[in-house]
Amino acid sequence: MPPQGRRRPALEIFHEPNTMTAMPSSSRRSAALAATSPWIDSPGRFGRISRWLHWSMALLFLWQFVGMVLKVTIGRTPLSGVFVGVHRDVGLVLFVLLLLRGLWGLYNLRRRPSHQPGLVGLLAVLGHLALYGLMLVVPLIGLMRQYGSGRPFAPFGVPLMGPSDPIPWMMAPANAAHGLLAWVLLALIAGHVLMVVVHRFVWRDEIAQRMIGRVTDGSNPPGAGTRA
Ligand code: HEM
Ligand code: HEM
Repeated sequence: MPPQGRRRPALEIFHEPNTMTAMPSSSRRSAALAATSPWIDSPGRFGRISRWLHWSMALLFLWQFVGMVLKVTIGRTPLSGVFVGVHRDVGLVLFVLLLLRGLWGLYNLRRRPSHQPGLVGLLAVLGHLALYGLMLVVPLIGLMRQYGSGRPFAPFGVPLMGPSDPIPWMMAPANAAHGLLAWVLLALIAGHVLMVVVHRFVWRDEIAQRMIGRVTDGSNPPGAGTRA
C-alpha cells in the first residue's frame, strides 16, 4: 500500500508483478477459489470441510478408544457396553469418512498448508502418512473379518452383510492385528496431539491455528508465510 496521501505513478502500478496472470489458468482458478471460499483449503489454513472431517473423525476415534479402554480395564459393564455396542457401526462410519477425507485431501493437495522444510517437517509428513495408513487399515480389516465371519451385520439397523458361509482368509488379518494396530494408532494420535501442544505452547508458531483458529477467506490467512 502506498503511504497515505501519496498518489502512485501510473507506471509504478503498471510494472507491479502480477502473480495471478503469471500462473497457468487452472492454478489461477484454484488460487482464486482458495482466496474467496472458506470451505476449501488454502496455503495458510485448512478450510471448513477439512476441519469438519478432521474434528468429527477425532470425536469418533475418541468414542472408539474410550469404549475399548473401558472394556479392557473394567470389562463388559453397562457403561462400556454403551460404547462397545456400536463399535462396528462407528468403525464403518469412520471408514467411509476416511475415504471422503482422502479424496478431499487429494483435491486440495496443491493448495493446503505445506510442511516445514527439514527434519521436523519430514517427521510431520511421515506421521500424517502413518495416521492415514492406520486409519485405513484398522477399520478395513475389521470389516473384512466381519464379512468373512458370515455373521449378519446391520449397521444402524440397515442390513449390510450376511448371513453367509465363513471365509477364513478374510478373518485372518483382523484376528492377527486389528487390536494391535488400533493401539498403535492410539499411540500415534497421542504423539500427534503432543506435537500440536509443542507447536502451540513451546515453539509458539501458527501450526495449531491452521486447524483450530478462525477460518479466514484464505486471502489473509493466519499461517501465511509460516510453512510447516
Ligand atoms: C477405525 C475404527 C476402529 C478402531 C479405532 C478400532 C479399535 C479397536 C480396539 C482398540 C479394539 C480392542 C482390541 C483389544 O481388545 O485389545 C477393537 C476390537 C474389536 N474391533 Fe475394532 N476398531 C475400529 C473399527 C472396527 C470395525 C469397522 C469393526 C468391524 C466391523 C471392528 C470390530 C472389532 C471387534 C469385533 C473387536 C473385538 C475383537 C478384537 O479385539 O479384535 N472394529 N477395535
Ligand atoms: C485433540 C485432538 C487433536 C488435535 C488438537 C489435532 C490438531 C491438529 C492440527 C493443529 C493439525 C494441523 C497440522 C498442520 O497444519 O500441519 C492437524 C492435522 C492433522 N491431524 Fe489432527 N488433531 C487431533 C486429533 C487427530 C486425530 C484423532 C487424528 C487421526 C486419527 C488426526 C489426524 C490428523 C491428520 C492426518 C492431519 C493432517 C491434515 C489432514 O490430512 O487432515 N488428528 N491436527
